[in-house]
Amino acid sequence: TGPLSVTEFASKVGKSTADILKFFFNQGLMMNQNMMLSEEQMGELALEFGFDFKKEESLTKENIFEQLQVADKPEDLVDRAPIVTIMGHVDHGKTTLLDSMRNADVAASEAGGITQAIGAYQVVHSSGKKITFIDTPGHEAFTEMRSRGANATDIVILIVAADDGVMPQTEEAIDHAKMAEVPIIVFVNKCDKPGADPEKVKVELMNYGLVAEEYGGDIPFILGSAKEKQGLEELQETILFISEIKDYRANPNKFASGVVLEAHLDKSRGPVASILVQSGTLEMRDMVVAGGAFGAIKNMENENHKKVLKAEPSRPVVIFGLNSVPNAGDKFIVMNDEKMARQIAEAQIDKKRAAEQQSKQAFTLDQIKNHI
Ligand code: GTP
Ligand code: MG
Repeated sequence: TGPLSVTEFASKVGKSTADILKFFFNQGLMMNQNMMLSEEQMGELALEFGFDFKKEESLTKENIFEQLQVADKPEDLVDRAPIVTIMGHVDHGKTTLLDSMRNADVAASEAGGITQAIGAYQVVHSSGKKITFIDTPGHEAFTEMRSRGANATDIVILIVAADDGVMPQTEEAIDHAKMAEVPIIVFVNKCDKPGADPEKVKVELMNYGLVAEEYGGDIPFILGSAKEKQGLEELQETILFISEIKDYRANPNKFASGVVLEAHLDKSRGPVASILVQSGTLEMRDMVVAGGAFGAIKNMENENHKKVLKAEPSRPVVIFGLNSVPNAGDKFIVMNDEKMARQIAEAQIDKKRAAEQQSKQAFTLDQIKNHI
């Protein structure tokens, strides 16, 4: 088997030809369905769509076509934890809610009490079932990151403080949740506070199409207090109920792919990336491409800074070993060929540069027009 055409590739990975053409079109590349794909283009598509490569052999430029994993078969899929993103206005209690569920105290140790980056945690419910939570920053400057959080989520918890009601970032969160087209659960927080008016929040949210069950809608509203640990059990049960109906599954028996939630440069440890595995299993020494960064995993830690050797689907982990710092929202894949990994990472950097150049040029054109 030699190189594949766009159409052949699309059918092999279970995508439509239009999806593939659109991907190239968005990069300013006009392709047609009969054109042959280069190895680099296949690698880029793998990164974009999260395709995986078969695990048995080593991936090389020569065998990339054979190694490309076809779409998962139903029998390969096993249950995975639901991925739940907590969104809401600044200070409405997102971090406190998570802290209460995992008995940690992150909120108190945060600089200025504002969540700076997306934190991700797995909580084990009393039934033994796991839930993955993503805590998104509430500050307006982080709108971009928050929108990315929504892309990697199965369920959104919209948190609204009962003493404050719907605020600008509540509205933004509603928009993001709606765009992500995932179930929404409303957690009306701070019900312990004097002056809290949870019923008012219910009525306010009707204007945004979020209608509580008792008003004839289908949105679960849970009244509680993150601080006083009220409503948390009901919240987790609601999440697990939805997750049973939706039956979230993934194939753990292949190379991992997923998304970067946050990354930064640590003075002593180098590039550190907090990532979420969406498919496959991530293991020590795996060669990862994440946006423009690549490298073999030297070390992996869970949310409690404990070393882990593996990360299965829906697991958030912190990884060490990348050669540079990827961006939040970048996708990652694993491939066991370092040369390929480097090439694909470099192609991502070039692409980003070209896009920046293009937007700069567009800006200049606009400026010129304004002067005419
Ligand atoms: P950002 O990350 O900055 O967007 O804020 P956040 O939504 O994570 O809010 P955070 O959890 O940091 O809580 C903000 C403040 O509200 C803190 O002082 C909390 O102690 C307080 N708080 C959170 N939940 C409750 C609650 O249920 N009741 C009361 N009384 N206070 C709460
Ligand atoms: Mg916070």
